[in-house]
Amino acid sequence: MTAADKRYVVGITGASGAIYGIRLAECLLQAGCIVHLLVTDAGWRVLKEELGWEVTRRQEAIERAFGERAGRIVYHPIQDIGASIASGSYRVQGMIIMPCSMGTLSSLAHGSSDNLMGRAADVMMKEGRPLIIVPRETPMHAIHLENMLKLAHMGVRIVPAMPAFYYHPKTLDDIVNFLVGKVLDILDIEHQLFRRWGEPDGTAARHEQ
Ligand SMILES: Cc1cc2nc3c(=O)[nH]c(=O)nc-3n(C[C@H](O)[C@H](O)[C@H](O)COP(=O)(O)O)c2cc1C
Repeated sequence: MTAADKRYVVGITGASGAIYGIRLAECLLQAGCIVHLLVTDAGWRVLKEELGWEVTRRQEAIERAFGERAGRIVYHPIQDIGASIASGSYRVQGMIIMPCSMGTLSSLAHGSSDNLMGRAADVMMKEGRPLIIVPRETPMHAIHLENMLKLAHMGVRIVPAMPAFYYHPKTLDDIVNFLVGKVLDILDIEHQLFRRWGEPDGTAARHEQ
């Protein structure tokens, strides 16, 4: 299967770090994949607060943000529990919730499927397909940690939004790219978003805007 045949679900929730999910979607589109995009209502609020998105017309906001690549995005309203990705019979290669709020984390850990984000993630787990979540909160209490442990036992990959500094990030972009690159590594998608340990310094490619 080539990248062009691959479909991924990208979920953006109301945790801080909306920029991560947007950058991930950009990278998947750049790799030629189809992106099924889900944004919770709180996720839209954070897109407005953190990235200054005008969010009253959501489809238009997506087209503005992704330009001509928006044609490879399938945007699903969060309450559309009849969407393709709500069914295990619709094949996708994986789902990434980035960033993942503690609210959505709890819904996933309890299988409550109370919106399309929860349902699509539940489908990934029941079908044994890759599900990656990028939780963001600090500090975390025991319920947050227990929820993550439950999901880890289900095979969900937990990639906390924790920056590293050993590759000498200089900009916000470097920090965002590192985390997005870690997710792409799990999906086995080639990238040059950060300098790997053991590679010579100064080779970290900048994300192509
Ligand atoms: C600007 C902003 C930042 C937030 N950051 C976080 C966060 O980092 N982690 C988190 O769990 N919730 C955060 N929240 C709260 C969630 O948005 C809230 O709990 C919401 O109900 C989550 O809903 P969702 O899981 O449907 O997106 C934030 C809210 C706002 C407005």
